[in-house]
Amino acid sequence: MCFPMRAVDIIQKKRDGGTLTREEIQFFVGGVTSGTLPDYQAAALLMAVFFRGMDPAETAQLTDAMIHSGVTLDLSDIPGSKVDKHSTGGVGDKTSLVIAPVVAASGALVPMMSGRGLGHTGGTLDKLESIPGFRTNLSIQEMKAAVADLGCALVGQTTDIAPADRTLYALRDVTGTIECIPLISASIMSKKIAEGVDALVLDVKVGRGAFMKSEGDARKLAQTLVGIGRAGGVNTQAVITAQDWPLGRAVGNANEVIECLEVMKGRGPADLIELSLDLSARMLMAAGVARTRADAEALCRKAIDSGSALEKFRRIIERQGGDPRVVDDYERLPRAPEQHVIRAPSSGFVAQLDAGLIGRAAVVLGGGRDKVDDAVDPGVGIIMKATVGDSVQQGDAILELHYRQRHRLDAALPLATSALQVALAAPPPRPLILEEIF
Ligand code: URA
Repeated sequence: MCFPMRAVDIIQKKRDGGTLTREEIQFFVGGVTSGTLPDYQAAALLMAVFFRGMDPAETAQLTDAMIHSGVTLDLSDIPGSKVDKHSTGGVGDKTSLVIAPVVAASGALVPMMSGRGLGHTGGTLDKLESIPGFRTNLSIQEMKAAVADLGCALVGQTTDIAPADRTLYALRDVTGTIECIPLISASIMSKKIAEGVDALVLDVKVGRGAFMKSEGDARKLAQTLVGIGRAGGVNTQAVITAQDWPLGRAVGNANEVIECLEVMKGRGPADLIELSLDLSARMLMAAGVARTRADAEALCRKAIDSGSALEKFRRIIERQGGDPRVVDDYERLPRAPEQHVIRAPSSGFVAQLDAGLIGRAAVVLGGGRDKVDDAVDPGVGIIMKATVGDSVQQGDAILELHYRQRHRLDAALPLATSALQVALAAPPPRPLILEEIF
């Protein structure tokens, strides 16, 4: 006797530690995509997966079902190697805005599909949309035309590409179900495989500001992502990078756009430059544009030094409906009207700027979401006037909170204040790039 499939049975099965079948996973993803599965049941199953996990076969089947929740892009009519980069989520993690123009200016094609802020982490789409007029919701035709003409398009999932992830991503953001290796893997890889790239470089973050807190978990996530990518025919590699404190000096959507523009103008913070250029060089090699690491690095440097990356970014902004004048005039970007400075409580060295707490403070200021349909305030954020390892005097400005509403500042202050620790001795230096997984 064959009973009709019911969401509640699937939820209970996973809740009790069972292994879901391909059909059950397809039923769940199909219901999410068509809207017939209510959010409360989708959220319940996400929570069951969060606690019970998924084995490799279930994770692969979930990814596959999410890929086929929409169309897969065929970019083969655009000559050239297509390569993308994706991060598992961090604070001040803005490299995509530098990498896409650098790599496109160096001769590879970058059809980049990104996400919004997730939990305490920022999202590339929210950052881009702080540029007045910038559209991330290009149609597939518009995206392909931008890649063919400019070598790059910066988009979010459309209703056509991995639509199930769009719904699940937003639900996970507000239901405490983000930090889960199968869910992160299926979310990232469904988008990446559906977008039709040849090669993919993944930045797997680890530390206080990352979803993976230990190097062991980060390695497991990296291996899962690389395994799914390779099985899907995408030349995939991952680097594990440190995220105990924010990357660069700026957190918050418009603030981060400015910092990326500074990098493309040959300025900007050393850690952001290091990671952006490392990932860009990997992409150029994976795309076959550069044969050696030295060639790849030289191409990236040239894209910055010659101004071609900056010019590329200007043209991307223009192409996607944004105001390209922001490149030269930061006043055209949204800016929160008020500032509050947190100062060093004593003299010594900055020993910690907890990226998790700073990310949460930025969300509370209005830079991220508590509920699925919350609007994001593009002008709020946090600027780090000093970073970990810097020597400071008592009373020096360390964190500058940019805010619009006093009650939000009041809620963010305890988080931001406890993120900062000053000690008598400098902390031991820590490499930014910790490991690579092929
Ligand atoms: N990026 C994604 O696209 N999905 C996740 O789950 C985490 C980071």
